[in-house]
Amino acid sequence: MSDTPKDLHVPKGLEDVVVGTSSITFLDGLKGRMLYKGYDAVAMAGQVSFEEIVYLLWEGDLPTRAQLQPFSKSLADNRALPAEVLAVMEKFPKHCHPMDVLREGVTLLAMVASDAHDGSQKDNREKALRLVARMGTFAAAWDRIRKGLPVIPPDPTLSHSANFIYMVTGKKPDPLSVEAMDMYLSLLADHDLNASTFTARVIISTLSDMHSAIAGALGALKGPLHGGANEKAMEMFLEIGDPAQVDSWVEKALQEKRKIMGFGHRVYKVEDPRSVPLRAMAHRLSVEKGDTRWYNISIKVAEAVQRHKNIYTNVDFYSASVLYLLGIPIDLFTTVFAAGRVAGWCAHVFEQLADNRLIRPRTDYTGPTDRVFKPLAQR
Ligand code: CMC
Repeated sequence: MSDTPKDLHVPKGLEDVVVGTSSITFLDGLKGRMLYKGYDAVAMAGQVSFEEIVYLLWEGDLPTRAQLQPFSKSLADNRALPAEVLAVMEKFPKHCHPMDVLREGVTLLAMVASDAHDGSQKDNREKALRLVARMGTFAAAWDRIRKGLPVIPPDPTLSHSANFIYMVTGKKPDPLSVEAMDMYLSLLADHDLNASTFTARVIISTLSDMHSAIAGALGALKGPLHGGANEKAMEMFLEIGDPAQVDSWVEKALQEKRKIMGFGHRVYKVEDPRSVPLRAMAHRLSVEKGDTRWYNISIKVAEAVQRHKNIYTNVDFYSASVLYLLGIPIDLFTTVFAAGRVAGWCAHVFEQLADNRLIRPRTDYTGPTDRVFKPLAQR
């Protein structure tokens, strides 16, 4: 019955299907490599600021000091949320999940932005800049609003990462915490055609607008098989509670065929390369902050899972204790992922628009055909 050509049949979940070209991020799932615009993203982690990585993804090369300074300043100048948006957020039910607030917040930004529906390249750049600048502000502001605390305005004298920690915790962070946040946001900034980035590209391919693409991507990111896994990984460490409980917890979970959050990856058949610097950072932070319990549990979980199954940790595993040690509330973790990934979503929107064709695949229809209709009275 189907008119779908046989050569269009693809594996479930589009596994390993190549649907286009991109010059943003290269992944090698067998060697565990990840390049941003040709540079080794993992080797750069800890040595570059998030601002430098955003510039790289959008402009194609790392900035000089002279290029970075005005770029960082425009991000810092755009961090504050419009008063109308904050006023609506004050009315949200206090139990709302931060990812829902973030998605609605992006939609609200579109409604108050006079240029929301202008799809010109220049305007898309400005919208992207504002979205990257404000993603963390939403998360931090919502955390304060729901706790009945005054929102902490962004501090333009601080870097993007330092300011984010400051807006959440109310304290100016120490250098190691800033290094950790820069590392996290930089490693999360892009990752080829993951589910949320694909969503953003599908939306913009209809010539919709930047805010709609980012709001849609946020919806895809929220799921526990994608960005929501970092929250679930930390909840697991808290549930285990003690390194001595790890082996029995993991055995039981695997017997019950539960997925262990922060393990496995569609692309990587080896350890997720982002895990390596994040594991080292989790250790450094644990020692510095005098709280090694979560790191010790995570190392034991990784060993126990490896003994039973041939799966490796992914980016969400060690980053869970990094974010926890930075004082980020657990249900804010996925919004921090979003605060990094928004840079990549915008880069993919630019790339899609530069050579756009509507993304409109087919399914192989497996339902019934030729059924005889009976009006309601005869059924
Ligand atoms: N725990 C236990 N078993 C697992 C896990 C896991 N976390 N991940 C994969 N497996 C097993 C799975 O049960 C299956 O085994 P079998 O062949 O015996 O049935 C095999 O490995 C293949 O798994 P799959 O679910 O078919 O693989 P996938 O490519 O469809 O899924 C994944 C990839 C990331 C959704 C999956 O590994 C998973 O659910 N992981 C837990 C959630 C998670 O950590 N997500 C974050 C992903 S990385 C950050 C991001 O990009 O968002």
